[in-house]
Order: sequence, then C-alpha cells, then structure tokens
Amino acid sequence: MERFFRYVTEAAEQSILVKMTLSKPADKHDELRNVYVKPVLIKERRLFAFTYHYERRDETKNYDATQMLEVLKALIPSRFLNAVLFTVSEDVTLLVSSKGKAIIQTKKVQECREQNLEHDKQKNRLVNPANPWWYQLGLTTREGKITADMQHKFKQIYKYAEIVESLIKPMKFDGTVHIADMGAGKGYLTFALYELLTQKLNLDVLIKGVEIRSDLVLKINDIIKSDNLKGMEFVESSIEAFHPEKLDVLIALHACNTATDDAIASGIKAGAKLIVCAPCCHKQIRQEMEASGKTDMITRYGIFLERQAVMITDTIRALILEYFGYKTQVMEFIEMEHTPKNVLLVGRKSEKPVDKQAILEEINALKQRFGIKKHYLETLLKIG
Ligand SMILES: C[S@@+](CC[C@H](N)C(=O)[O-])C[C@H]1O[C@@H](n2cnc3c(N)ncnc32)[C@H](O)[C@@H]1O
Repeated sequence: MERFFRYVTEAAEQSILVKMTLSKPADKHDELRNVYVKPVLIKERRLFAFTYHYERRDETKNYDATQMLEVLKALIPSRFLNAVLFTVSEDVTLLVSSKGKAIIQTKKVQECREQNLEHDKQKNRLVNPANPWWYQLGLTTREGKITADMQHKFKQIYKYAEIVESLIKPMKFDGTVHIADMGAGKGYLTFALYELLTQKLNLDVLIKGVEIRSDLVLKINDIIKSDNLKGMEFVESSIEAFHPEKLDVLIALHACNTATDDAIASGIKAGAKLIVCAPCCHKQIRQEMEASGKTDMITRYGIFLERQAVMITDTIRALILEYFGYKTQVMEFIEMEHTPKNVLLVGRKSEKPVDKQAILEEINALKQRFGIKKHYLETLLKIG
C-alpha cells in the first residue's frame, strides 16, 4: 500500500496524475460506493477534486496534494479495497484482499494521455452569453456581455446547466427527446436547457415550457420565433392541466407548493426517464403538521417546523418516486443565498424491481410520526 501511495505522491508532484478511482467498498453496505479523483486548477492552485459517489447523492471536495494523500490513506484500505491511478503513461492498480494483503499491478499505456485541469473554464462553454436570446431575455448587452446586475443570475444558470448536463449526458434516447419544463417562468433555465442540449449535446429536442402567465408565454414565444429556434415552445397552461403523452425528461424548478407534486405526478404518469425538480414552498405538509398539534421540542419554534416540513415533504416525494421505480437522489441545488429552497430531487427511471410494500410502510411511518394524513402526491397518484 505504501508503494501505491508513493506512486500517487510522485504522480502529483510530477503533474502526471490524470485521474484516480477508488472502488470496492470494504463494507458492502457502505453508503459511499466509490470515489473519483481528478486534478483541477482553481484560482491558479493545483488541487485534487474528490467526487464522493454515495448511494443517493454525490459530493465534491477539493484538496491540495498533502491533504489528498491524507484523505487517500484514510480511505484505503479501511473504506475501499481497490484503487486505480491513471497517469499520462501508466495505470497503477492496487488490489487489497479482505484479509488486508495488497498487490500492485502496473500497465504502460499506449494512447497519448494528458492532464485535464479544466474546471471553471468548462462552465462557460455550456451556456454562451453571446446567443441572442440572452440579450432578449434581458441578461446581456446587445454585444453579449452579461450586465452587472445579472452576473449572479448567470452564475446560477451555468451551475444549472452543469447539473443538467451531468444528468442527461449519460442517458440514451431514441430520436427526439421530449422535455417539459413546468412552471418555466421567464424562461432563463429553459433557454439554458435548450442551448445545452442542442448546441453542446447535439440532441434533437422538443422542449415545452409550461407557464400559467400569458404575458410570459407571449414574450418567450416571440423570442423563440425571432431566433428561429426549432424544438422549443412555451405553452400557456397550468401544470395541473398539462398532461403530456410523450415525455422523456420532466423539469420543474421552483413551482409553488403542490404544483411540484402535480409536475412529478404527470412525469411519473407519462413514464419520464428523468425527473428533476427543485421544490418551492411547502405549505401542504406544514399545515397538516400544525393542525395535528404534534409539535415537539424542536418544531415548537415555527422556523424549525417549517424546515422540518420541507424535509418531510421532499422525503415523501423521493420515496414516492422510488415506489414508482425511480432511483432517487436528493442533492444541493444552485446556491441561493438566504433561502433553504436549494434542494434538487432527481429521479432516474430504473428497471430494477422495488419493494413497494416496504416503501409504503416507510411513508406511512413518516406520516404517522409527524401527524400527516395524506401527502398531496399520494392523492394524485392514488397510492397509500
Ligand atoms: C418561481 S418561478 C420559477 C421559474 C423557473 N422555473 C426558475 O426556476 O427560474 C415559478 C413560475 O411557475 C409559474 N407557476 C406557478 N404555479 C403554476 C402552475 N400551477 N401552473 C403553471 N405555472 C405555474 C409561475 O407563474 C412562475 O412563473
């Protein structure tokens, strides 16, 4: 093992470390499934980005070379039994047996590899402010320069594009990808999605932005028309009344209260392969919890009751997605200061069978504990 760590140290020192993977958890029930390491350049500092892939979420942390080695030593072999170091010229594999015996295999590589230190730079490629719609939407000057007061918004848009890219890129589609963006609002994220999918991922798409406000629908459809964008349209409709027949991807970001449930329900009913939503206000469950009078030492403080209602609402949503065969993750969404509404629920349709009864029992236990009669999404999908 020491030999492997020496290889890593040398690769880091010589800037030839391309990537590293840690796999085969020592405890097969460990929530942490694997770790992916890559070098990055952040503000002129060479760091190592560790992406921790947990069962239901991913987490990324950056370390300098010294910290990186300490972290590796804490993970190998106590958490992971296999590790592969990919350098520009060689692959070094460490295999540790369950009895703690370690072997190392090295293999010279034929192909020409190089370090990719791109990190922040990559973001800019996903959404191009020079595209005319960003000016028409009021985010840039006519020359495509982001205006001072829209810098923050644009940062959020990039971050969103990054997240969506990581979710959609590995997916396989048959022909046109049907997408609904429910509660699309001013269309910022819908355009980012369109741009990402058509210009970067080269997909043939039909994106429908569903929005109840007719003024927004009119304005956005004018922009779509003037830029001659094929494969995108805004539809004036409530989320509740919009029932797509074909749907591959459902997006619902910050749709108010139970409109998120209406969106999730229509995604599930239409058999969407991917459901992505960032819930907004969570009144329904909070009101039920309050009415039940079951507050405790923590939730007697209104703000904590609200936060708990948010978590319970979204946990039940995640469980319902699991019930319908979606592998579900709850992750942090774009950072939005001063608001706890930064959760992203992601459900990917899976072929794996699920224990529906066990999931129902979990939902019921949660409801009982917190004095909830019914989650609105259960009502919509007629379960429970
Ligand atoms: C907070 S904005 C979010 C816009 C966009 N998705 C985003 O995250 O930037 C919510 C939008 O959803 C629309 N909306 C709210 N309830 C809706 C419903 N039931 N049906 C359709 N649109 C709805 C509102 O008019 C508003 O434009």
